Amino acid sequence: MKRRHLIQAASLTALAFATQFAMAQDAFKIGLVLPMTGQQASTGRQIEAAARLYMAQHGDTVEGRKVELIVKDDTSLPDVTKRLAQELIVNDKVNVLAGFGITPSAMSTAPLGTQSKTPMVVMAAATSSITEASPYFVRTSFTLPQVSVAMGDWAIKNNIKSVVSLVADYGPGKDAEKYFNERFTEKGGKVIEELRVPLRNPDFAPFLQKVRDDKPDALFVFVPSGAGAAVMKQFVARGMDKAGIRLIATGDVTDDDQLNDMGDGALGVVTSHHYSADHPSALNKKFVAEFEKANKDMRPNFMAVGGYDGMRVIYEALKATKGKGTGDQLLAAMKGQKFESPRGEVFIDPATRDIVQDVYLRKVEKKDGQLYNVEFDVIKAVKDPGKTK
Ligand code: PHB
Repeated sequence: MKRRHLIQAASLTALAFATQFAMAQDAFKIGLVLPMTGQQASTGRQIEAAARLYMAQHGDTVEGRKVELIVKDDTSLPDVTKRLAQELIVNDKVNVLAGFGITPSAMSTAPLGTQSKTPMVVMAAATSSITEASPYFVRTSFTLPQVSVAMGDWAIKNNIKSVVSLVADYGPGKDAEKYFNERFTEKGGKVIEELRVPLRNPDFAPFLQKVRDDKPDALFVFVPSGAGAAVMKQFVARGMDKAGIRLIATGDVTDDDQLNDMGDGALGVVTSHHYSADHPSALNKKFVAEFEKANKDMRPNFMAVGGYDGMRVIYEALKATKGKGTGDQLLAAMKGQKFESPRGEVFIDPATRDIVQDVYLRKVEKKDGQLYNVEFDVIKAVKDPGKTK
């Protein structure tokens, strides 16, 4: 009797061991598709660094299952993103796709995620409509409408009566233009001109010349992460600030990845955004310190925090599904997550799969010889105003 029990116990242990072994063999794969080279390379570099930091801090095994990160460089070309996503789904059998440096890359992948029921975590791209292109998108970055409205309100309150808007000519730029200009006009401001500059290899000079001629109180700018320094340099070089034109923008322009190299011309620029490396919470201080320790000469920007929180959302979904969730089960476990991020409190709205978060007004200031976006006001728990639902 006793012996039988022992044998049973032994075989149960063996079985448990075998299952665990099988599970360990069958890694949980995250396909991270990012622009690692080309114009948007800083986005890829920031997100990969943040994802690796998350894994270093939280371990690479969840519920007994090994987590594997497969990083692919899409060079920010949407056709390449699509091909890589297809290979990751079909050949590598990834459980989750993530990354998506720019809107066209996310859009090109939408049908693949839908057909294969693969959750796609958008860590960077920020056009409002992305999450409507597939029910498998979950976003941990932000949307341009979400951050642009606050800038419109701030401009009116700060005696800016006329603006010219200058945006990159694609999804997020059109969102920024629409939501900033609508709010600013509703409150009595005047938009003198709406300028759009090409996404690829933009030359800001002729546009800034137009702005000088228009003589608005302020120039409102959106360009994607990586392009801000060029705008800032040209703005100062052309003496726009001396001509009495203020520069206001979304925080994409005073990007923490580049801000310190922009020079004192950036001092005083006011922007609205969801993340600053200077955010004064204990959690953010720890995040920044550990990020900088692991990545010499790099300061985390808003892309990094999108990547870090995206990993959190994936890890917690894997935990909630005991390490073996299907695409649909993982997706369900991603919806509704609420947690403290280095940026502040965030919530994945289950109805829209978009992130609800605080939006800050910040001003570029010097601290210990370094330039930072210093937060001075906050609008709590902002939903994406681009969603009608
Ligand atoms: C986008 O393409 O959606 C995008 C890229 C960079 C940004 C914001 C939006 O800073």
